[in-house]
Amino acid sequence: MKILLIGGGGREHALAWKMAQSPLVDVLYCAPGNAGIAAVATCLPLAVEEGAAIREWVAEQKIDLVVVGPEGPLVAGLTDQLRQMGVAVFGPSQAAAAIEGSKVFMKDFCARHDIPTASYRSFTDPRLALAYIRTHGAPIVIKASGLAAGKGVVVCQTLAEAEETIQRIMVARVFGQAGEVVVVESCLRGEEISFLALVDGEHILPLAGCQDHKAIGEGDVGANTGGMGAYSPAPLLTPALQEQVMAQVMRPVVRAMAAEGYPYRGLLYAGLMIDEGRIQVLEFNARFGDPETQPLLLRMRSDLVPLLLACANGSLQGMTIDWDPRPALCVCLVAGGYPGDYATGDRITGLEQAGRMADTVQCFHAGTRWQGGEVVTAGGRVLGVTALGATVAEAQQRAHTAAQVIHWEGVYYRRDIGYRAIAREQP
Ligand code: AMP
Ligand code: GLY
Repeated sequence: MKILLIGGGGREHALAWKMAQSPLVDVLYCAPGNAGIAAVATCLPLAVEEGAAIREWVAEQKIDLVVVGPEGPLVAGLTDQLRQMGVAVFGPSQAAAAIEGSKVFMKDFCARHDIPTASYRSFTDPRLALAYIRTHGAPIVIKASGLAAGKGVVVCQTLAEAEETIQRIMVARVFGQAGEVVVVESCLRGEEISFLALVDGEHILPLAGCQDHKAIGEGDVGANTGGMGAYSPAPLLTPALQEQVMAQVMRPVVRAMAAEGYPYRGLLYAGLMIDEGRIQVLEFNARFGDPETQPLLLRMRSDLVPLLLACANGSLQGMTIDWDPRPALCVCLVAGGYPGDYATGDRITGLEQAGRMADTVQCFHAGTRWQGGEVVTAGGRVLGVTALGATVAEAQQRAHTAAQVIHWEGVYYRRDIGYRAIAREQP
């Protein structure tokens, strides 16, 4: 079959790498892809926003399955348009993707269906938001309702920080239209896990547990990023907790979405806060997590393509996934300055050497491109060095060994990805 993958980040490299191994796949295209994806798929010079050109190309080439990686085209409705053309698509409809695209929709949906999440209020008027914040007090969490590349959430420790955040999001509009509405919610404590599941409109097939590290600094301090690293499994996610997540979150969401007229088909990602066994939903994403996908797919032994097709066709019931029991861990190598301003076009060295190191290590490309016969940086998150190990500590060590031979001007990565899981491994 002919598959088109939309996107060009680390998640998409992992998806392309995994799909390319499927005996079902004759041709794999990726729009736009990156320098790493180019080794396993034919990259097309189409940006993810170019919906009309993508549709034209899908019709011309008679693509059998389109897999949508990032949230942008989902929230823009690309899947609905492709389905209208009769094409099988992995990814939720525009209406269902609002669970990620609009935080107000997500919070109101949770409230309607008793899905546990932090108490909140939404505002369109900055003065009312400020008045509420002053009565509520700090710490408090402020979220731009729309999509803001993972940067629209600020956990404010002081009232002054909260006031400045309202000013930036609602008045200065640093996230543009995404800040027209804000959600102000109470600050939760606990440990976070990422819960990802395949959904076909009705049936739910959970993936292995995983955890990511969002903060730029070691020890989880500093600004939030799209994710600095991730690992799977998550020791915190016991079978009992998994059943609790299914009962309190996943099954009610999927049932309610179908009942409200927009059945969810695709990958449903719940970001959860776990506090002494109590579950609260921090966010939903309408897509695979990045970088969670990189360690998850390194552990997945089953063929991914039939699973994605089953989500598209509503035939997920009874399917299972075989996982490598070994943990996998991904360390993101980012450009200096990220998540603020950073340079691009810097020459990356050591990729070949790192790639030859072991079959337990994969260097997934996130922000890279070919330029004059060299691979150069093209984004904030540049690479996701991902490794399997007998333990999380060994996986981390292997990822570090590979990361050490890779270099460009300003490269930075956290040396402590997985520290909570590693602490739990100590006898
Ligand atoms: P989100 O994009 O909604 O997942 O938020 C990004 C990060 O902000 C989360 O991974 C949490 O670390 C943090 N966060 C979001 N909401 C809350 C909350 N209500 N309480 C504490 N931390 C939060
Ligand atoms: N790693 C967090 C996300 O994909 O949103």
